[in-house]
Amino acid sequence: MSRRPDAAARAAMALFSDAPRADRAHVRGRWWTAPFPAVEAELPPSGRVLEIGCGHGLFVAYAALRAPGRQVVGVDIDTDKIAVGAKALAPLGDRAQVSIGRSGHVPEGPWAAIVILDVLYLLPADEQRALLVDSVRQLADGGVILVKEMATEPSWKTRWNSFQETLAVKVLRITEGGNFTFVSPDTMADWLREEGLSVDVRPLDRGHLHPHVLVRGERTTTVAGTAG
Ligand SMILES: C[S@@+](CC[C@H](N)C(=O)[O-])C[C@H]1O[C@@H](n2cnc3c(N)ncnc32)[C@H](O)[C@@H]1O
Repeated sequence: MSRRPDAAARAAMALFSDAPRADRAHVRGRWWTAPFPAVEAELPPSGRVLEIGCGHGLFVAYAALRAPGRQVVGVDIDTDKIAVGAKALAPLGDRAQVSIGRSGHVPEGPWAAIVILDVLYLLPADEQRALLVDSVRQLADGGVILVKEMATEPSWKTRWNSFQETLAVKVLRITEGGNFTFVSPDTMADWLREEGLSVDVRPLDRGHLHPHVLVRGERTTTVAGTAG
């Protein structure tokens, strides 16, 4: 899938034209390094979509601009990014909103889709699993959960990714977090299967230096005592 920004991506990035220079650069960097189009392509064309750990909200804006029937909500623990993102996304009104979230909290569903894009590796493994389990509980029937993470192989790509994350989190401090825990996508898939989802794992690293991978889970049946 091409990394060249499509019309929705250009419009989403343009929303940040009045943001501080560092935030603008960060947002542009996210577009070029993360496979947003491949993740967006897995979203339903309409309905309520939640992104947990949305950063500035670039993906929130992109997903909303790609399909007018979506209402996309993002939450993040980083108050600075949310302040910049909320201002930038204001012209989109109810279609795309970001707000401050508490770590580990999943806003109430039912959600047609929940996206977690390059966030889980910042949490310990038990918190990653708890967040996924809580997310599944807030999915609508037929809803999907999309977890974009980094694969744990090939090793040269994971080494490059660890180097870059160390720079972002520990040196430049542009991402909230402490240590990294890269859980294998197959383990995440098993966690989701144990919650009753139908799951597949798709490599998205072709043409990318980073070992991007998507874990896609779909809730096909009602789980007793859960939302939906
Ligand atoms: C690499 S950035 C990805 C941002 C966005 N998802 C994107 O793809 O552009 C990771 C984000 O996760 C957020 N984050 C870290 N721990 C979190 C937590 N426990 N709950 C919610 N967000 C968290 C950080 O503040 C940061 O904005």
